[in-house]
Amino acid sequence: MFSPSHLASAARRRRLRAAIGLAAVAVATAAAMSAGRNAGAPPAPVELLDALSGGDTTALDATTNAFGLAARNLGREERRAFEIGDSLFTQNWVTAPASTANRDGLGPLLNAQACASCHVFDGRAKPPTDPDDPERGLLLRLGVSEGDTESPHPVYGDQLQDRAILGVDPEAQFVIDTTDVPGTYGDGTPYTLQRPTYRITDPAYGPLGRNLLLSPRIAPQLVGMGLLDAVPEAQILASADPKDADGDGISGRPNRVRDIQTGRAVVGRLGWKANVANTRDQTAGAFRGDIGVTSRLAPEEPCTPSQTACNDAPTGPTPQLDDEALDRVTFYVTTLAVPGRRNLDDPAVTTGARFFQTAGCTGCHTPTMTTSASDVTSAVEHQTIHPYSDLLLHDMGDGLADGKRDGRATGREWRTQPLWGIGLVEPINGHTRFLHDGRARNLEEAILWHGGEAVGAREAFRTADRATRDALIAFLESL
Ligand code: HEC
Ligand code: HEC
Repeated sequence: MFSPSHLASAARRRRLRAAIGLAAVAVATAAAMSAGRNAGAPPAPVELLDALSGGDTTALDATTNAFGLAARNLGREERRAFEIGDSLFTQNWVTAPASTANRDGLGPLLNAQACASCHVFDGRAKPPTDPDDPERGLLLRLGVSEGDTESPHPVYGDQLQDRAILGVDPEAQFVIDTTDVPGTYGDGTPYTLQRPTYRITDPAYGPLGRNLLLSPRIAPQLVGMGLLDAVPEAQILASADPKDADGDGISGRPNRVRDIQTGRAVVGRLGWKANVANTRDQTAGAFRGDIGVTSRLAPEEPCTPSQTACNDAPTGPTPQLDDEALDRVTFYVTTLAVPGRRNLDDPAVTTGARFFQTAGCTGCHTPTMTTSASDVTSAVEHQTIHPYSDLLLHDMGDGLADGKRDGRATGREWRTQPLWGIGLVEPINGHTRFLHDGRARNLEEAILWHGGEAVGAREAFRTADRATRDALIAFLESL
């Protein structure tokens, strides 16, 4: 059953644990001690208190650059490749033709000039306050519905590009309006959620029409992408329960998408609707759709036929990004480390871990997975990881529904968002905006928005006493 690399990896893992004084035994003891303090309560599962969320890749450095660190187990050559990828991820692209080789091809339509404009410090964006906000990390995906079918918008395409190069009109701007949604915790404490709606202003290519579908998406932190790529498909499918055969109210189904490189239909893993096959496809898609830089995997500029200035703009070489550059950025994103966990000996964290399980959060936020092979790097192979996601789609109710399909995902379904690193969003990105559109203003609101299949878990949280709710938040902040 165990391959030699498995054994080597286990040995490395033990050494790493020993080095940081977090041997599994010590963690188990801490859990047992804390359980002892709460007489009668079962001990928190040890897997919920493992510091090494990303296995051997875990970076044990919770500084403000903790989302931007290389996997801990990269060799020297790989570290160099990571750094080259980092510079391509961070640099601003410019309009073609430019004298700076390998940096041109921006636009004609675009949302931002660099990957890092949205994934600030490789982290999480927040919704813009107005159209001039330099914050670029909220995208509006577009479509039109006709009866039962959905297609990209005939003029505006599948994404609203609110920036453009000189001489080309940006497609439009948008403004976010919010409505208050009041509620009350079980102990009588009131709270107010904010539901966002999107108003498109200044459309430059004619009206958007009546059957418009909008799916807002915020840029998430990019930790552990290569590990998620390396989880075997069978493992994801094993927890799918589309007809809820076990009767726990939670179904979960995989999205199915095309792997652009191989052309094969595969289980989708990345994106808020698991609408992308892997990090390479996501990188090529982002270069094209968000920055306007084409590559072999995404060779068409984001101009629709009637956008003439866009079609006529000079583009430089085709594709604009060569395979080597695409590989380097892919390598960079694949090997971004998962941050190690903090405060595991805090009793609130242990209590929170236990409640995370009894409240039913683990029904979707799967604590543990294992990886197998990767075609990018052995660093992510054969790792025991704690992404807190099943990578499946769940009906999250009307409150979170965007009404727009994506692959097999319906307008009510979202991929269980991995929770690793979530506690570092505030120190790194300076805000606590969560969920697919950044509507939640803190972790409590993120949980209170859960509906549909997650109603039971949400209610367990809403009706819990204050100390238990705080403990759950302490647990999330330790991730
Ligand atoms: C204009 C803002 C923007 C830019 C620029 C951008 N991204 Fe993103 N990124 C997003 C958003 C929004 C999502 C979520 C997309 C979705 O759910 O469909 C995302 C998702 C991702 C994901 C998947 C994350 C996950 O948890 O599934 C990866 C990987 C990624 N981006 C890499 C990149 C790379 C590499 C670049 C540069 C080539 C880039 N992004 C540029 C906004 C941006
Ligand atoms: C039925 C599946 C399911 C259950 C049960 C569930 N979640 Fe989630 N969770 C999701 C999905 C799907 C999302 C993404 C929803 C979105 O962005 O609209 C999510 C998002 C989150 C987020 C925001 C993540 C981010 O990066 O923005 C937090 C925090 C969270 N869940 C915590 C919890 C906690 C705590 C519990 C238990 C009380 C729980 N969830 C139970 C499916 C579930």
